Amino acid sequence: MSSDSFEASKKRSDEIRADLALHPDKYTMLTGDRPTGRLHMGHYFGTIRERVALQNLGIKTRVIIADYQVITDRDTTEHIQDNVYNMVIDYLACGLDPEKTIIFTHSAIPALNQLMLPFLSLVTESELLRNPTVKSEQEASGHALTGLLLTYPVHQACDILFCKGNIVPVGKDQLPHIEQTRQIARRFNERYAHVFPEPAGLLTDAVEIPGLDGRKMSKSYGNAISLSLTAEETAKLIKKSQTDSERFITFDKENRPGVSALLTTAALCTGRDEVEIAAEIGNDGAGALKRYVTESVNEYLAPIRERRLELEQDMDYIKEVLHEGNRQANEIANATLEEVREAMHMVY
Ligand code: TRP
Repeated sequence: MSSDSFEASKKRSDEIRADLALHPDKYTMLTGDRPTGRLHMGHYFGTIRERVALQNLGIKTRVIIADYQVITDRDTTEHIQDNVYNMVIDYLACGLDPEKTIIFTHSAIPALNQLMLPFLSLVTESELLRNPTVKSEQEASGHALTGLLLTYPVHQACDILFCKGNIVPVGKDQLPHIEQTRQIARRFNERYAHVFPEPAGLLTDAVEIPGLDGRKMSKSYGNAISLSLTAEETAKLIKKSQTDSERFITFDKENRPGVSALLTTAALCTGRDEVEIAAEIGNDGAGALKRYVTESVNEYLAPIRERRLELEQDMDYIKEVLHEGNRQANEIANATLEEVREAMHMVY
């Protein structure tokens, strides 16, 4: 994506952010996750916390567990049911409230998926092939470019537009998909009749929590602290994280990625400043730093984990939340598909 469209996206995002609390009823938020594993602190600080805040502002909030996105670059759905249920547990433990937020899965919403057909007719092969995020995801997966991976940004447009979502909290890497979604909405509205809003990405201003090695936190890098870990598992993980041979602790992202990642993790959990924490630990070295980080993380996550353990005991409730979310999402999707059929003169 060119830099001026990034500027345009950022400007739109800032304007909306300033308006959210003033006019919550103007907004419908849609965002989601691929159920490929447990949620970790990167998800929490990057987006989950923000979803909860939007929900509590009274904005309509919808969260999709994108199960069909799992097979864009994988050959198995072996653990998908377990991953989906655990994702619901993670969401609720973090504060998403099923009385306010609709939580649902792709595979249970036929009318959402049916939007894929008209939407695919609104994009060109070269637009699909140009998407930089699709390209890098395909390279990272080491898997052939499947038709579903190539077209998943269009499927994501279905996720957003079926409920007329107009704000989508996303990281920068998802902006090309928002741009594609805006184009699909615009083209549909011009070609047939005005049905869809042109959604805006809501870019987070939050500091990104690094993984334990300083790279982006990601399960596939093995540097992630999952919300579902126990306090002991967390301590072990932090203990074996890579620091360096210099004893005196300083905050220097460039030259000391491991030490600095630990400092940022503690800073986010305690609301303190990295440099201040570094100065306090100073000559006590990496061992002391790790103990401090472990304590901060475990303290921060304790209420989430406690709630998680309670929720795990009641799988009937978890299933019921998803059933009810799917029921509500189907109602919305069916109504939108009806409008689409009318706009396309396909009501028989
Ligand atoms: N692709 C997103 C991710 O990997 C998840 C997702 C699916 C999504 N559908 C969406 C995000 C719609 C925003 C809007 O994180």
